[in-house]
Amino acid sequence: METILRALFLLTSLYFVLVNGQVYDVLDFGAKGDGTSDDSEINGKIVAPINKSAWSNYKKLIWIDFTDIIGLAINGSGTIDGRGSSFWKPFLTASRRPTQLHFERCDNLSIIGITSLNSPKNHISISQSNNVYISRIKLFAPEDSPNTDGIDISRSSVVNIVDTMIGTGDDCVALNNGSVNININRMNCGPGHGISVGSLGRDGEKSTVENVLVTNCTFNRTDNGARIKTWPNGKGYAKNIIFKGIKLIEAKNPIIINQKYVDKGRLNVEKSAVAISNVTFRDISGTSRGDEIVKLDCSEVTYCKDIVLEQIDISTSDGNKPLFECSNVYGKSSNASAVQGCFAK
Ligand SMILES: *[C@@H]1O[C@H](CO)[C@@H](O)[C@H](O)[C@H]1NC(C)=O
Ligand SMILES: *[C@@H]1O[C@H](CO)[C@@H](O)[C@H](O)[C@H]1NC(C)=O
Ligand SMILES: *[C@@H]1O[C@H](CO)[C@@H](O)[C@H](O)[C@H]1NC(C)=O
Ligand SMILES: *[C@@H]1O[C@H](CO)[C@@H](O)[C@H](O)[C@H]1NC(C)=O
Ligand SMILES: *[C@@H]1O[C@H](CO)[C@@H](O)[C@H](O)[C@H]1NC(C)=O
Ligand SMILES: *[C@@H]1O[C@H](CO)[C@@H](O)[C@H](O)[C@H]1NC(C)=O
Ligand SMILES: *[C@@H]1O[C@H](CO)[C@@H](O)[C@H](O)[C@H]1NC(C)=O
Ligand SMILES: *[C@@H]1O[C@H](CO)[C@@H](O)[C@H](O)[C@H]1NC(C)=O
Repeated sequence: METILRALFLLTSLYFVLVNGQVYDVLDFGAKGDGTSDDSEINGKIVAPINKSAWSNYKKLIWIDFTDIIGLAINGSGTIDGRGSSFWKPFLTASRRPTQLHFERCDNLSIIGITSLNSPKNHISISQSNNVYISRIKLFAPEDSPNTDGIDISRSSVVNIVDTMIGTGDDCVALNNGSVNININRMNCGPGHGISVGSLGRDGEKSTVENVLVTNCTFNRTDNGARIKTWPNGKGYAKNIIFKGIKLIEAKNPIIINQKYVDKGRLNVEKSAVAISNVTFRDISGTSRGDEIVKLDCSEVTYCKDIVLEQIDISTSDGNKPLFECSNVYGKSSNASAVQGCFAK
């Protein structure tokens, strides 16, 4: 059975009810949001209208919105399908397309088992929420769908993401400003852009990300792999970041730091940079679709510091010699013969 959810769907302040131990089924919420379907025995699917003009108000920019709910647990085998193609096709800019599931100030949140498909923009965004557990979810959208990030995180701490599959064509996870103590384990990521810290520091903003551990993940045909990107002239830092136990299957740009990231336009004079330090890439192996397996493009203003490349064992799909490009990086490598000479003395 399918439930069509035409409206923006907002849930707030269930704190009181939930701490009293009541369990809700998100699919039941879907039924109520519709207002016409029977809201019992809903098993299966929540879908958006196939044509965006049938949405009651897609300009709200969030489809299903959870705010100020403490202890929310979403656990089930259901599917939420945003049927986003009516948004992607006319090349509507990202700022005019809704996020599929948004969580704001939802401490002690868990999201388990669900599948999210074809979001108009990003699938899941989490903001100002602490103590978050995400497990066994699947997020998919076509490889060429625009800006359909898997999970975007900002201003949140203690976020554990385990045993997930994300293939959306864009970032599997993007860790934005205020992401602290983030643990991503056993993610099957691709196609898409890999796991990114950033982009940070846009328009001179102060942004910070720290204590990030990405372990035992696979990047399958991603355009980037382990990635950190910061805008020129930003402030703040990205530090204490580890990517380890990463398997690459035909990934392009598997290891990449770009401290001078510019989405559109050109970089003019650079006066500051988001400082990048204490970043370890360890035990990264497999194949790269491009010849350049490591690119650490850091700013001459701050340099990247304490960068470690260890046990890097990446071959290129076409059998060419692996190349690296490093500028303004201090650090060390071991058991990473392909990147000898990357670091500044
Ligand atoms: C969506 O609806 C609008 C307005 O009714 C219509 O003009 C357009 O052709 C529809 N698009 C598709 C793909 O059906
Ligand atoms: C999720 O639901 C399944 C099936 O009902 C149950 O076995 C499991 O314990 C639940 N997990 C959590 C963390 O609540
Ligand atoms: C949130 O979880 C923490 C750790 O499990 C627990 O100590 C705390 O009481 C929970 N807070 C609420 C409001 O449920
Ligand atoms: C960055 O996150 C911090 C911590 O949550 C917050 O105080 C600050 O306002 C955020 N900065 C921007 C530019 O959003
Ligand atoms: C990662 O994989 C290695 C090798 O298979 C295993 O020893 C380790 O326990 C795993 N770590 C996590 C956090 O799953
Ligand atoms: C990699 O992705 C392709 C399809 O994109 C899939 O057929 C293959 O099974 C995946 N490999 C692994 C190891 O997951
Ligand atoms: C570097 O980062 C790791 C991992 O987050 C952390 O354990 C370690 O203490 C950090 N080192 C320094 C010198 O801050
Ligand atoms: C060097 O790297 C290879 C490939 O990743 C690994 O098999 C080997 O154990 C590493 N040796 C040391 C001394 O870390």
